[in-house]
Amino acid sequence: MNNPASVLCSVEIQKHVDLKPFNTFGLSSIAERLARVGDAQSLEEYFSSGEPHPSLILGGGSNLLLTKDIPGTVLKIEIPGIQLMDESEDAFFVKVGAGVVWHEFVLKAIENGWAGIENLSLIPGNVGTAPMQNIGAYGVEIKSVFHSLDAFLTEDKTWASFSLEECQFGYRESIFKRALRNKAIISSVTFRLKKTPAFNTSYGAIEQELEKMGVRDLTLKSVSDAVISIRQSKLPDPKKIGNSGSFFKNPVIDQVHFESLKSTFPEIVGYPAGDRKVKVAAGWLIEHAGFKGKSYGTYGVHDRQALVLVNHGGALGSDIYNLSEEIIQAVFGMYQIPLEREVNII
Ligand code: EPU
Repeated sequence: MNNPASVLCSVEIQKHVDLKPFNTFGLSSIAERLARVGDAQSLEEYFSSGEPHPSLILGGGSNLLLTKDIPGTVLKIEIPGIQLMDESEDAFFVKVGAGVVWHEFVLKAIENGWAGIENLSLIPGNVGTAPMQNIGAYGVEIKSVFHSLDAFLTEDKTWASFSLEECQFGYRESIFKRALRNKAIISSVTFRLKKTPAFNTSYGAIEQELEKMGVRDLTLKSVSDAVISIRQSKLPDPKKIGNSGSFFKNPVIDQVHFESLKSTFPEIVGYPAGDRKVKVAAGWLIEHAGFKGKSYGTYGVHDRQALVLVNHGGALGSDIYNLSEEIIQAVFGMYQIPLEREVNII
């Protein structure tokens, strides 16, 4: 394939690039142009040089289903750096470049005794995209350790800093997925990490795993190791089997609806979600609609976690999209619950 590189300001632009290595589903999709941005200044230069607005802004590619080739420019954010900026009596303030791999930051935090993200070990993706969907696992969400972030606003061509409140975090939600979608590009995130750990092992499986590991005194490392072990036992490693973690969100429904489902499906799994609402385990719904482990050759549903759709190798994004559509219809038909995709469809 013709792949000449040109240089605009300090941003290198390549033509006709396959995005397969840049998305955890491992899907082929040809970007007409790929611009890789390695620092905040280059990001600003890209927009002030009259280049067209990018068709896609790419981080770690871990929450993305590419169903087609991408015309125009894909802007890939590769800003590095982990820097301890400040300390207070009980916290470390750490600024992290948007292009840092999330789990590498978690490992660095554990090494330095910065507490609060050990439960978020091994989540695929980069630091810059983590706040967009308020990543969460095992009882912790990024919002609990978030201090602020810097982003470039592409319409005004200015920089802005966002506080916790301004990010409007919700369950797998933030302002960057809604009002500021494609309008704010995160360059760095500053975390407020604790000096004294407040371990959160209430998520049942963590306690069991720690016991299995023979851990008596909790440390950041032991909790992280337990989370890694649980994740590895349930979730496919994107380096071996293409996937994007949970493909759907866990739906929140009215208590009355849940009670009525429970009389038909006594084993259904749900957790109180306040205000007479229940958050239902989508994995359970999908499994009991008969999809768990179902394989369609090149793609299918993971055999240990029905919320995860997989590319066994050679699948098309459109195959996986059509499967997700089939699942949504089947789940709605059985339980009258509309599932919502967590993954961005391109
Ligand atoms: N379940 C089934 N069948 C399945 C999968 C799950 O019955 O195939 C039931 C389990 O029995 C369990 C319940 O569903 O009682 C919850 O399962 P699990 O603990 O695996 O968590 P989840 O709700 O399916 C969420 C997050 C994950 C996160 C885990 C652990 C969402 C959409 N997903 O999954 O996040 O790792 O909790 O905290 O909220 C991600 O977002 O990509 C992701 C992996």
